[in-house]
Amino acid sequence: MEFLSMICLSFAVVGFFCFLISSTRKFAAFGRGKLPLPPGTLGWPYIGETFQLYSQNPNVFFASKVKKFGSIFKTHILGCPCVMISSPEAAKLVLVTKAHLFKPTFPASKERMLGKQAIFFHQGDYHAKLRRLVLRAFTPEAIKNIVPDIESIAVQSLESWEGRMVNTFQEMKTYTFNVALLSIFGKDEVHYREDLKRCYYILEKGYNSMPINLPGTLFHKSMKARKELAQILAKILSLRREMKQDYCDLLGSFMGDKEGLTDEQIADNIIGVIFAARDTTASVLTWILKYLGENPSVLDAVTKEQEAIMRTKEEREEKALSWADTKKMPITTRVIQETLRVASILSFTFREAVEDVEFEGYLIPKGWKVMPLFRNIHHSPDNFPDPEKFNPSRFEAAPKPNTFMPFGNGTHSCPGNELAKLEILVLVHHLTTKYRWSMMGPQNGIQYGPFALPQNGLPIKLSLKS
Ligand code: HEM
Ligand SMILES: *[C@@H]1O[C@H](CO)[C@@H](O)[C@H](O)[C@H]1NC(C)=O
Repeated sequence: MEFLSMICLSFAVVGFFCFLISSTRKFAAFGRGKLPLPPGTLGWPYIGETFQLYSQNPNVFFASKVKKFGSIFKTHILGCPCVMISSPEAAKLVLVTKAHLFKPTFPASKERMLGKQAIFFHQGDYHAKLRRLVLRAFTPEAIKNIVPDIESIAVQSLESWEGRMVNTFQEMKTYTFNVALLSIFGKDEVHYREDLKRCYYILEKGYNSMPINLPGTLFHKSMKARKELAQILAKILSLRREMKQDYCDLLGSFMGDKEGLTDEQIADNIIGVIFAARDTTASVLTWILKYLGENPSVLDAVTKEQEAIMRTKEEREEKALSWADTKKMPITTRVIQETLRVASILSFTFREAVEDVEFEGYLIPKGWKVMPLFRNIHHSPDNFPDPEKFNPSRFEAAPKPNTFMPFGNGTHSCPGNELAKLEILVLVHHLTTKYRWSMMGPQNGIQYGPFALPQNGLPIKLSLKS
């Protein structure tokens, strides 16, 4: 069952519904063509190799395939013929150089939940425009200004955990949700926080449920919550239009006069950004606490680095952390990089060939799914010696291009990566300078919910350092 939720990391429980008939016809047609399909086995039609995937650790499945067939191979999972790729060169072709031939692809039920007009689902002019609007709200220049506000959210979060047993992932989700709202709505955010949170939590519960829209089902409730979210957003939009002020947050960027986005397009993209921002960053933070907890010498080095920054600030009688301070944290930054590599919370992504593509001597037929396997690239000894070892100092040298892609690469790469790194640094600063924590319960399991996560969300107990 574990793999089911993992392969669905933002994708469907029910798969993509590629139809058996059309894909069988395709195989016949390509048998006559010149270029061969990539090596690999397709297994039984429709069921394909999904079964093998479910019955073993997914990383073992991918790794054994790579060993047998090389870095490009075909398989058939969740109803779709699919080409998996795990070399830096091939990932570059799919994500960067030939990105126009590989469109993002999600099951229809996910589109309905996030909203059809959200950035992830698009290509071409509409995508480029959204991307420009999102990027300008998350450039270093733009997020510099909210460092003190992020800091106060971090300080409050940590204070609220003190002295009790907490589920790290759940608490980190609250933190990253609040930071996401701040980056979207600016300081106005506090007024809507509770309503938005309530609706969003119902919405996400339906996210990995069967997409059956009947009264009483999780999916139905979540579609209702989605409508309510859109109503709250409509209210915020109309209030802002009355104010006639300029805002430099994401909503302000979307609402620019020249941009001409409809309210529906804005709503779909706000919900989309919350979705992209919250669980991803929260699970990385959870892994950081785990790796720091397991590696005392690394924790010690991070703590010393952060204490030095704290002391300098005290000497200068500066209160709030600044953007410049966060640029003086090389050790902590390498811990974040190594965590992103080892945990590889987004194990892979999906694309679909928009036409027959000739690819490294093989044919990828139109309509086939293509999956760059980030985790395999990050765990290949060719790219990272002794890959299972948590060793932040390996990042003292920059990784080779397209061997380290926690935020993807190319036209759909993560526009929120600067914000994600910033909010992690700010939280780790206060965590390591003021608190100690111990991990409670067994520590070896991994769960996928849908991102890779330490077992049970890493229960910890946090206390103030004396
Ligand atoms: C550590 C946390 C995060 C990780 C590991 C992460 C990773 C990724 C990756 C790998 C992609 C590309 C997916 C693909 O190519 O199919 C992506 C896209 C995206 N991310 Fe992030 N992300 C994180 C945090 C955030 C945050 C904080 C935000 C928003 C503030 C955000 C917003 C987005 C958006 C909007 C996209 C879609 C871009 C597009 O389709 O053009 N992410 N993210
Ligand atoms: C993305 O691809 C470009 C072009 O190959 C490369 O220069 C860059 O280093 C890549 N980025 C990452 C994060 O690997």
